[in-house]
Amino acid sequence: MNKPTVINIGLCGLGTVGQGVWKHIERSLPELKARFGVKLELYRAAVKDPKKPRSVEIPASKLTTDALAVATDPHVHIVCELIGGTTLARDVTLAALKAGKIVVSANKALLCEHGVEIFAAAKKHGGHFLFEASVAGGIPIIKALREGLIANRFTLIYGILNGTCNYILTRMVKEGAPYAEILADAKRLGYAEADEALDVQGWDAAHKASILAYLAHGVWVKTDQMIVDGISRITQTDLKMAAQLGYCIKLLAVITRDFATNEISVRVHPTLLPKDAVLANVNSVFNAISVTGDVVGTTTYIGRGAGQDATASAVISDIADAITLLTAGKAVVACAPSENQLRGGAEAPKLAPLGHIRSRYYLRMTVKDEPGVLAQIATITAESSVSIATVIQMAAERPDAASLILTTHQSDERAIRHTLTDIAKLDCVLEPPLLLRIGDFQE
Ligand code: HSE
Repeated sequence: MNKPTVINIGLCGLGTVGQGVWKHIERSLPELKARFGVKLELYRAAVKDPKKPRSVEIPASKLTTDALAVATDPHVHIVCELIGGTTLARDVTLAALKAGKIVVSANKALLCEHGVEIFAAAKKHGGHFLFEASVAGGIPIIKALREGLIANRFTLIYGILNGTCNYILTRMVKEGAPYAEILADAKRLGYAEADEALDVQGWDAAHKASILAYLAHGVWVKTDQMIVDGISRITQTDLKMAAQLGYCIKLLAVITRDFATNEISVRVHPTLLPKDAVLANVNSVFNAISVTGDVVGTTTYIGRGAGQDATASAVISDIADAITLLTAGKAVVACAPSENQLRGGAEAPKLAPLGHIRSRYYLRMTVKDEPGVLAQIATITAESSVSIATVIQMAAERPDAASLILTTHQSDERAIRHTLTDIAKLDCVLEPPLLLRIGDFQE
C-alpha cells in the first residue's frame, strides 16, 4: 500500500457542523500532523451558495457548488458528507464509496434508510463509511458499542438521543417558557434539524435508535417497525403531574433484546423516569445512553448531543480513524459492525410483537366533568385487562372539562392500544388521550 504523505479532506456541506469541522481541524493541523506523521489539508468544500457569510474564512478557490465533484475528486482521500437529508447526500456518499474513498458522515437519516446499500457499496469498492457523529453528538457511543463493549450481548440500551427535545423539556420545566419560543432558540443554537418535525415528533431519535440497534444486534429495524412518539403534545400539566408522582419526562429511545425468545424491540417515546435515575438528571442539550451488557453490566455515557462543536468533535474522531486507515491500513470495524454478535451461527433476532412489549403507563384524558365518566373509563380498562394504579383529577385548561390522569400497573402495548382506542370513542372524552410510558428499567 502506498502511504500518502498528504491527506486531503473534501467537505460536502458547510452548515453548522461543516463550519465546526473546518474550524477545529484548521486550528489543530500542527497537532494532527505530529500525531499521525502526515500533512492534512482542508482541500475543497462544496456549498449551495459560495457567497453566504460563514464563521470560517475559506479561500474562494476552495469552494464549489458541485458536491459530486468533491466526492469523486481523485485528490480527495476523505469525504465528509455534512449535507443532511437523503437525496443529494445519498448520491454523494455512494459516488465517493464507489471511488473507493473513506466517507465520514453525521447523517443518521441516510444511514437508517440506506445503511444496507451504503455498507454494500463500501465493501464492494474498498471504501469505508464512518459515522460516529450520527448518534449522540459528541459522545463516542459508536466506538463504545463497536469496540469497547465488543465482548457483550446487549439486553437493554436506552437513552436520550435528541438534544433538541431534551433542551425543550428542560426549559419547559425550569422556566415554564412557551414551547414555540424554546424551539426557536434550539434552532438558533444549531441543535434542531432543518425540519424540526424530525426532532419533536421523535424521528431523529428513531433514526439514531435504529443505528444503535444495528450495532448492538446486527439487524436494521426501520422506523415504521418501531413505536415512535414525540414530545409535541406534552403540556405543563404532564410535567407537573409527573413531578408530583416522583418522575420527570424525557424523550427516550429504548432497545431491548430478550435472548430467551430472541426478540428485539426498538421504540422512541416520552417516558416518565424516576427523579433519581441518572438519565432523569441529564438536562438541556445533553444526551445520555445507558448500555447493559451481559459481561460488563451497565455503563452510562453522557455528553452534548447536538451543536456545532460536539458534532465536529465526533466527525474529527472519524477523520482520525480515516487517517489511520490510510496510513497504517488499520481496519475499522465499520461495514458489518455487529456480525460478530450473531455468535455460533445464532439466528438474527425477530421483532417482538406488541403484546410482548411491557410497561407501566400514564394516560391523560380531557373529559367532561360529570357523573359516571370515571366508571365508563374504568369499564374499558377492565375489559382490556389493564389494571389502574392511580387516578388523579384536576381542572383542565378548557372550561367545563377536567384532566383525568391514570397510571397503570404493568401491561402491554397491545392492551393499552385497545384501551386508548375505546376511550377515545367515548362521548365524555373531549380530546384524543395522551399516552406516556413509565420507565422502570431493569438494568
Ligand atoms: N437535531 C439533533 C438533536 C441534532 O437535536 O439531537 C444532533 O443529531
